[in-house]
Amino acid sequence: MANETTMAVKRALVPGSFDPVTNGHLDIIARSASLFDEVMVVVARNSSKQPLFSLVERMDMLTEVCQPFRNVSVHTFDGLLVQYAEVNAATVIVKGLRAVSDFEYELQMALMNRRLAEHVETMFLMTGAEYSYLSSNIVKEIARLGGAIEGLVPKSVEERLRKKLTERE
Ligand code: PNS
Repeated sequence: MANETTMAVKRALVPGSFDPVTNGHLDIIARSASLFDEVMVVVARNSSKQPLFSLVERMDMLTEVCQPFRNVSVHTFDGLLVQYAEVNAATVIVKGLRAVSDFEYELQMALMNRRLAEHVETMFLMTGAEYSYLSSNIVKEIARLGGAIEGLVPKSVEERLRKKLTERE
């Protein structure tokens, strides 16, 4: 017989700056969507990074590309991620790991988050090998320098990125 634990909705957060969302992010979102009942993609409002795209633009792009997933929604958050998880009854934070170089920083954040809220678990998913060298920063740099970014970001993002860079010239 199903008990309370098995009945509980498993809600996960996929946090990030998403400036802009890449196919690597999308891969992690898709994997999360198949593992959890509900996935909340959460865009950090106040990142220390200076974003190219506004918060609204980043959310718009995510909303567009997450449309095929019926259990994925897009949100924004401010302040501590674990507090946002608690308020929204999310018990898991999903992070993508691309290479060993990601590990140290991600481990630090995961351990600090556990110290702040021990019942919120961080889960790492390995990105697909084809995305292991991909990051928003590298995509922006290639686009800025006129290189090909086809296949690195969703088509709609590719167009927005080119438009944004043209506007800034
Ligand atoms: O895509 P990014 O920039 O690597 O995402 C980093 C992010 C937004 C997930 C991380 O900076 C974060 O969780 N910020 C929220 C503030 C917070 O909770 N800081 C304590 C982390 S130990």
